[in-house]
Amino acid sequence: MNQFRIAPSILAADFARLGEEVDAVIEAGADLIHFDVMDNHYVPNLSFGPMVCQALREYGITPPIDVHLMATPVDPLIEAFADAGATYITFHPEASLHVDRSLTLIHDRGCHPGLVFNPATPLTWLDHTLDRLETVLIMSVNPGYGGQAFLPQTLTKLRQTKERIARSGRAIHLAVDGGIDAGNIAEAARAGADTFVAGSAIFGSDDYSAAIGTLRHKLASLDSSSLIL
Ligand code: DX5
Ligand code: ZN
Repeated sequence: MNQFRIAPSILAADFARLGEEVDAVIEAGADLIHFDVMDNHYVPNLSFGPMVCQALREYGITPPIDVHLMATPVDPLIEAFADAGATYITFHPEASLHVDRSLTLIHDRGCHPGLVFNPATPLTWLDHTLDRLETVLIMSVNPGYGGQAFLPQTLTKLRQTKERIARSGRAIHLAVDGGIDAGNIAEAARAGADTFVAGSAIFGSDDYSAAIGTLRHKLASLDSSSLIL
């Protein structure tokens, strides 16, 4: 899998103009809309819930919405977001009491399941789940806030995850989330990532097309022989 995807995180958007902001990043070339759900419990911050996802769908947003749950309990939110128009739903395994049940629920509700790993969460969670996943999301910051600095140890974890995915023989997306910008996106791609969540690097710019274009340019300039395919 070597098609790169850019996923702007609307956590960094202007919430007062959210529909227009999402339209603008779609126009600028976003592949999916990353939707960070924070509950002031699993993470200290509080963001938005299924009503906002549904409002975006009713406003006319049609591209995939990538719901990243940083919240507990997980299962009621899976149901609510499936009803609200989510496409992908990812959650943190340690936030669910029954990971396999949560994955089944996402699948049964017609969405694409994925697991998210914090910097200190071991990849052993993949031992009994990888064959059920469509995405593995590696956090390159500790979850809870936008605008944090990329943690370089993430690169090793991306490589280790990519090796597990390759061994599985399945086409599973490897996403990276946190502090992604033009200075590190190529390194993350070289380490195996194909999907790049970026909040500040896109919404913090005054030209979203230029910001996404710069990220894509960095990816396009990679030597394909340096990618772990
Ligand atoms: C962090 C979130 C990220 C965040 C990314 O908890 O999961 O998606 O919004 O934002 P930046 O790109 O600013 O680190
Ligand atoms: Zn996120």
